[in-house]
Amino acid sequence: MSEIHRASTTAPVNIAVIKYWGKRDPKLNLPTNSSLSVTLSQADLRTHTTASCSSSYPSSDSLLLNGSPQDVSGARTQACFRELRALRKKIEEQDGSLPRLSEMPLKIVSENNFPTAAGLASSAAGFAALVRAIANLYELPASPTELSRIARQGSGSACRSLFGGYVGWDQGSAADGSDSMAFEVAPAEHWPNMRAVILVVSAAKKGVSSTAGMQTTVATSSLFAARASETVPKRMQEMQKAIKEKDFETFAKVTMMDSNSFHATCLDTYPPIFYLNDVSRAAIKVVESINVAAGKIIAAYTFDAGPNAVVYYLEEKEKEVAGLFKAALGDKEGWSGKRGDAIQANSEGL
Ligand code: PMV
Repeated sequence: MSEIHRASTTAPVNIAVIKYWGKRDPKLNLPTNSSLSVTLSQADLRTHTTASCSSSYPSSDSLLLNGSPQDVSGARTQACFRELRALRKKIEEQDGSLPRLSEMPLKIVSENNFPTAAGLASSAAGFAALVRAIANLYELPASPTELSRIARQGSGSACRSLFGGYVGWDQGSAADGSDSMAFEVAPAEHWPNMRAVILVVSAAKKGVSSTAGMQTTVATSSLFAARASETVPKRMQEMQKAIKEKDFETFAKVTMMDSNSFHATCLDTYPPIFYLNDVSRAAIKVVESINVAAGKIIAAYTFDAGPNAVVYYLEEKEKEVAGLFKAALGDKEGWSGKRGDAIQANSEGL
C-alpha cells in the first residue's frame, strides 16, 4: 500500500464592504473593479479542508464538500489544481529526493460550518481553504499574495480570505491576471474592536449564482459602467483612508452606499436580479433607526448575493446595535442561525 500524504487547514469567510461585481475576464476571474473586505473570525464561520494525495488513489482528483461529491472538472477548480501542481513540480525538479506528489491524484475533503452558497461567502472560504491545504500538502514556500492569485481563479472573492484583518483586492491591469490579487490594508489588531453580526434571513441556496448574475449585469445594466469606472475607484480610496484613520462613520457610510449601489445594478440588470427581500429591507430600516437614535452612524449594513444582512459596528456599541437588533427583529419569522452572535475581525487570516 502506497503512502498517503495529507495536510489540513481552515479558512475564514470575508465580507466585502466594497463589492466585487463584474468580470472583465470570466475565465481568469478578473474583475471589472477593485474591492475591499473584512475577514471574519474563524471561531464563527470557517471552512475546514484536508488535502491528501497518494499513488494508491483512483486516477482522478476528487472533492467532497459537506459529505457530497463535487464536480472538479470545472475550469476554476482545474486552474487551482494546475497552478499548485506546477509549483510543486518545480521544487520536485530542483530536489530529486522529494516524493513526486505533483503526479498523484488529489483527494480534497471540505466542511463548512455555515450554509453553503446562501450568499455567506462560502465559495470565498472554500477556495481559500482548498488552495492553502494543497499548498501545505505540497510544502510550497508560497506567500499569501501568491496564493491569493491562485485562489482568485477558483472564486474571485476567495483571494481576500488569504489575509486576515482589512483586505483589498487590486483588480490589476495585466491580461494574464498576474497583478490581480489581494493585499493587506491593515491587520485586524489595527482596529480590533470591529464587530459583525450576521442575520441569517435564509439559508437556502441563492437563486442566481454570482457568476451568472455578474455576466448579465455587465451585459445589460446601464448603471454598471459608472459604478465600475467612477464610483468604486473613489470609494476604494475613501475606504482605505477610513480604515487607516479608524473613522467608523465614513467606513459605515461607504459600506452601506456601496451595498446599495451593487444591489441597484442588480435591479438595473435585465432580467432584474433580486437578492434582497422584505426581511432584508426591514434590517436596513432597523440600522437606519439605530443610527438616527444615536445621532451618528454607529452601524452599517451590507448584503452580498443573497438576503442575509451583515451589520458592522464597534464593540463599545454592542448593546445599541446587536442588542437592538434582537429586540426589534427577534420574533420576526425567518430570523435564525447566527442572530446576535458577534464576529470579530480575524487577526491571522489563514
Ligand atoms: O467570488 P464570488 O464569485 O462568489 O463573488 C462574490 C461577490 C460578492 O460576494 C457579492 C461581493 C464580494 O466582493 O464578495
